[in-house]
Order: sequence, then structure tokens, then C-alpha cells
Amino acid sequence: MRSVVSLNESWSFHEGFGHRLTEAFDGTHMVSLPHTAVELPFNYFDEKRYQRAFTYQKVLRWLPEFEGREVSILFDGAMADSVVYLNGEEIIAHKDGYTPFEARLTGKLIKGENLITVKIDGSENPAIPPFGGRIDYLTYAGIYRDVWLKVTDKVSIRNIKIETHDILSDRKSATVRVDIANPQGLTYAATVTGSLRDAHGNILASAAGETIGTSTTLSFGGLSDIELWDLSNPALYEVSVELKTEHGADRTTGHFGFRTAKFTPEGFLLNGRPVKLQGLNRHQAYPYVGYAAGRSAQERDADIMKKVLKCNIVRTSHYPQSKWFLDQCDRIGLLVFEEIPGWQHIGDLDWQQESIENVRRMIERDWNHPSIVIWGVRINESLDSHDFYTATNRLAHELDSTRQTGGVRYLTESELLEDVYTMNDFILGNEELPGANRPRTALRSQQENTGLSYKVPYIITEFNGHMHPTKMYDAEQRQAEHVRRHLEVLNAAYGDPDISGAIGWCMFDYNTHKDFGSGDRICYHGVMDMFREPKFAAYVYASQCDPSDEVIMKPVTFWARGERSIGGVLPLIILTNCDEVELTYGSLTKRIGPDRENYPHLPHPPVVLDHRHFTQDELGRWGLEWIDGEFTGFINGEPVARLTLAADPLPTRLEVAPDSTTLKARERDTTRVIIRALDQRGQRLPFLNDAVTLTVKGPAKIVGPTSVPLQGGTAGFWLEATGLTGEITIEAASSHFATVSISVAAV
Ligand code: GAL
Repeated sequence: MRSVVSLNESWSFHEGFGHRLTEAFDGTHMVSLPHTAVELPFNYFDEKRYQRAFTYQKVLRWLPEFEGREVSILFDGAMADSVVYLNGEEIIAHKDGYTPFEARLTGKLIKGENLITVKIDGSENPAIPPFGGRIDYLTYAGIYRDVWLKVTDKVSIRNIKIETHDILSDRKSATVRVDIANPQGLTYAATVTGSLRDAHGNILASAAGETIGTSTTLSFGGLSDIELWDLSNPALYEVSVELKTEHGADRTTGHFGFRTAKFTPEGFLLNGRPVKLQGLNRHQAYPYVGYAAGRSAQERDADIMKKVLKCNIVRTSHYPQSKWFLDQCDRIGLLVFEEIPGWQHIGDLDWQQESIENVRRMIERDWNHPSIVIWGVRINESLDSHDFYTATNRLAHELDSTRQTGGVRYLTESELLEDVYTMNDFILGNEELPGANRPRTALRSQQENTGLSYKVPYIITEFNGHMHPTKMYDAEQRQAEHVRRHLEVLNAAYGDPDISGAIGWCMFDYNTHKDFGSGDRICYHGVMDMFREPKFAAYVYASQCDPSDEVIMKPVTFWARGERSIGGVLPLIILTNCDEVELTYGSLTKRIGPDRENYPHLPHPPVVLDHRHFTQDELGRWGLEWIDGEFTGFINGEPVARLTLAADPLPTRLEVAPDSTTLKARERDTTRVIIRALDQRGQRLPFLNDAVTLTVKGPAKIVGPTSVPLQGGTAGFWLEATGLTGEITIEAASSHFATVSISVAAV
């Protein structure tokens, strides 16, 4: 049987690379994984700092269980151009920075201390996708995902591929192809048995097969009372497979779901039912540590996407992301558009070959995830390239006949080699360009973009982003325009049956190269900031949910007489899924319904208060007293939400809110902690830019600096367990508030 154990602890880390590091251990600087080679400031840094070689070393002591067995090290991901050495000998090289690789050590280990050396190179090596051109994101160097020690018998299970059939009928079936690893080229006769279990562990079916070849397929037929994997009930099943040969045994498990997913010219169907897709793009980046955030941070991003932003799809722009993220998408019912690494640039034939291999690596790693509904097999926003993309599509279809392909483009009339035309439509905002010859347009028609005379499966994969960067602390009017743009595009997508859905750019702000962003190495394109704290635009997405899920009522205002040009707060967008919103301002009360005139297609149009409802005088003019605004949301005539915005907001409370109050000590678990400067009504103080000084006591550390500025009245940090159990106390001190202390337990 296999054993797979974490190998994340006790690595030594070195700047640069030298052959001496393949020969002798130097433990001067010890680290644990996931690890970023260079911790960066929040912004204003030179991204070249990590664009060079680094070395990791680890001593692997011989264990009796290695005797006569296969031993390897599994790397979930390292950026990039990795070369693994064992006792000075090169074992494997893996160029790609986003897919896993396995260094086979069998037969080369000595019975004593073995030196594992991993050279990585963060240079943007033009031989490796996505490099060779300019890219709007950073590819932080490091062994930034988990590493595992795997020990198996000589013949073992390489991978399993689970497929489901007759999914919409009462009696469903599943097949599991079991691929066998036989690195020593032995002759064997294998028996493979498998069982299929529900989420409670009940065995629903068993199957068996035999082979002397490289794979065998188990069939589980006549399955009844199976729950479909769906957005609201992501029912997962488990297959466990056991292999026996004269050379030993192996066992593995895989999770999957029964669901159909199809993009059609009439829209997207999940289990045969139309679902309008509403989503956001996600980079796998975090402040300071770049890509090197572990399991809980990855899972939390999926949760935020589904539970805070109420999206039903995420695009893993622009590369395969963490398995922890994808597993969580399976568990919570969040659909995924996954794609290969790349950004606009296509390299030479060798580069293209590497990219074709990335299609293979991505699909072979991820084909069992029910959440993944489409493979992106083009370099994001590249030009047409017939032979290259014929090859990526062919391979994707060969490897997985159950999913459609897409290829994200901004080109109109580009060659459609994929199953779905996946389009970045940045037309909104173009009216501002000199010579623009069309009025403000949310989205072009499908036909204008495809240039085809017939309808095809079609989805919008990006919009907004660089067309209107917006910071957490931007002026209210700019933030309101950010909101309006997201509303307009979503409204257009909801209203057009030819569009399967729309995935906005993007979930949160991200660090980038100097050639992009605001000059400080940040693209402020998120509906959240880098700490995943919502800007107003986040509520455009959130407010589309059913109120039975959550009642949303978010006025897009700081509620001040003089923040906007000329003064006042009108027009005032209130992002809400309420039937009506009542505003009370002194003796004046008005109750207003959603703005279906301007946003007829949204499930929940915002309430927009403007001069249709208020005269200029009713909210008072410049020079008159400014008073509190009281908002009440109604559903079916009943009040369901209340909010008062203070006319005289004053610093009242510093909120320090961790996502979790426990950390798994041994896993060096992390939790995000959000700090908010709040007024007497619990609203963020958008212009309170104080510094907050953090002190930690107990077995944890703060990722990044311990003195952080509030930006837009908020700041955040990740707290990381350092390995021991015990109580952790965090103190947050600032000039406007009494020091706040919170506790987290490392268990
Ligand atoms: C797109 C690109 C994204 C991001 C976005 C900003 O062209 O695919 O990666 O750069 O623009 O709006």
C-alpha cells in the first residue's frame, strides 16, 4: 500500500544556485513549504527581485520501509524551471510552474542521509509559457505548493479517471479507468477492485477487473438514488480502488459527482437546466507571499467567491490553480473554468509543445473535479494560431471527451477551433476613445464578436478591469461608476439568451509588472482589495442572490454632503435584493423599488435614488445641515434590513476579525484577519488612514509587516501557525482606538 506524507518541513533555502548545494547540506536558513523565494512589500517593489535562481535542500533519511519499494517526491507546484538532484545527481527537470511533478528516487537512495536539492529559477525564461512577452501578473518564485514523500510497492496506481454516464436517468453508472505505474517494467498480472461510496461512507456498488496491461476500467452500473452534483447541493461520491499484483498492492481514492454541464448556443445547462453564469476571474496571488499560500487560504478564496460574492463560476486566470482551491469548489458547488498558463504571447514550436504538454498536465491532474466545466486551451488573449490550437483542442478532447473546450480571446472574428467561443469583451468604456462611433455599450452582440452567421455556445470571460481601475479608497463617484459598469455588463449578459454568462475582471486587486497597473505594481481591478475585503462593486454580484440566501442592502455612498463634485449623494445606487428600500432623511421618507428601467434583466436590479424621486432641495443644498440617512429594506412589505449612515461619522471601534479562531498547528495553517475602522453605526471610515501596529504572542507569526496602514478604512493580514499548539493573542494598536486584543487557538 502507498504512504503519502507531507514533506513540507525542514528545507534549507538559498539565494542562487551552485553545484556545491547539490553535494552538501547547508542549513543556515531553514524554511517550511509552501514558500516564496522573496517576500515582497505590498506595492512599489522591483519585480526583478525574484527573477533569478534559488535553491532548496532537504535531508531525506533512509527508512526501512523504502527497502524494495518505489520512493518518490511529489511536488504540487514550484515556480519555475525546477531541477531536482539526489546526492548530486540530476533526477528530473520540470519547466512548468503550475503543474505537479514527481521525482523518482528508487534505486538511488543510500542507506543513510540523502541530500535532495531543488533548483528553481524565477527568471521569466522565454522558453516556458507564459513567458516570452509581457504579462499582466507576477509569477513569484518558490516551491509555493505542498511537497509529499510517496512510497509504494513496485507496481502501483498511477492515476484514476472517473467518468459518469446516464447521468440524468434514474439508473446511473460510472466507470473508473485505473492507470498502472510500472516504472521497473516488470511482468505482472493485476487484479483491481473498486467500491463506490456516498458521502456517508455507505458502499453503493463494487466492481473488479484484471489486466496485464497498463490500465483497466471498472464499471459501476445500475446506480439508483444518486444525488446530482448541483450548485445548491454539490453531492460528492467517492471511489476507492485497490490494486493487487505479485509485486504488492496499492490503494487510492477519488471524489467525483454526477452532473452534466453543457454550453449550448442557447446558454449553459447544468444537469439539463439553464443556469446563467455569473462569475469573476481569480489570480492565485496573495500580498507579500505571492503564490505561497497554503490550503486554508486557497479554500477560503473559493468560499469568498461563492458565499460572499455569490458567484456560481470562477475562471482560474491564467493557469491551473491549487488543488485545495479546486477541491473546495467541488465541495461548495462553485463551477470552474480552468486554463493553461499564458498571456497573449505565443512562442516558437518548442514553446508551443510545452504548452500542449500543459494541456495534458492540467487535464490529467484535474479530470475528476465535478466543478470544472470547461478547459481553456488557448493562451489567454493570443492571436489565432491554427496548428497550435488544433493540437491543444485535439489533445483536450482525446484526454477528456466529457468536457467542452474554450479559448479566451479578445479578438473579434477569430477562428473558432474550440467548442465554446469564450470572449473578453472590453467594449464598455470605448465610447471615451477619440473617434469612437458608438454610444456607451455594455457588451457587443455575439454575432459581432464571432463574425459567424450562426449562433455558437458563447460566454464572456472578462470585462471591465483596466477599463476602470478602482481603489478601495477612491472617491465615491469613481466607485459608483465602477459599480455601474459591473451592473451594466451583468444586466446585458442576463438579458441576452445567446450569452451563457459573464465572468468579470476580477475578484481582487493583484500585484503586477511595471508595464501594467497603477505604477505601484498593483492592478486595482478587483471588486475586492488584495485582502479580499469588498469594494462597493462586490455587492453588485452579492446582491444578485436570492434573499433567502442573504439579504443584501448596500448604499454606494460614504454619506457626506461634500464628497462628490457639487455635493450631495444623488444619484445614489443601493445594491440590494430587497423589493423596495425606504430612505428616511429627517422628516422625509421615500420608499422606492428597483430600477428596472435601466437594469431590466438583472435578477435583482439596484434601487437608484435620483431626481426622479428627490428634488434638489429635499436632501438639502450646500450650506444646509447634513443629517443621518436611515435605510430600510422591505421584502413582501416586511422590513428585512436596516442601516443608518451617520452624518457625523466618528472613529468608534477597531474591528479585528479573523476568518477562523483555530489554526492547525502542525500544518502551519493560516487565517486571514481583517481590520476595520468603524464609526458609531458600524460603517467603515473610508478616509481613516492610520497605521495599525500588530503584536503577536504565542505560536504564530504575521505574514508580512507588523505595522500596516488602513487603506479605505481597512487592512488585513494572514496569521500563520508556527508549529506548536497553544493560545495566540494578537494585539492591534492605533492612534484613534483603544488597543484591541483577539485570541486564536493553535490546535
Ligand atoms: C485582459 C487580460 C487580463 C487583465 C485584464 C485587465 O486583457 O486577459 O489578464 O490584464 O485585461 O483588464
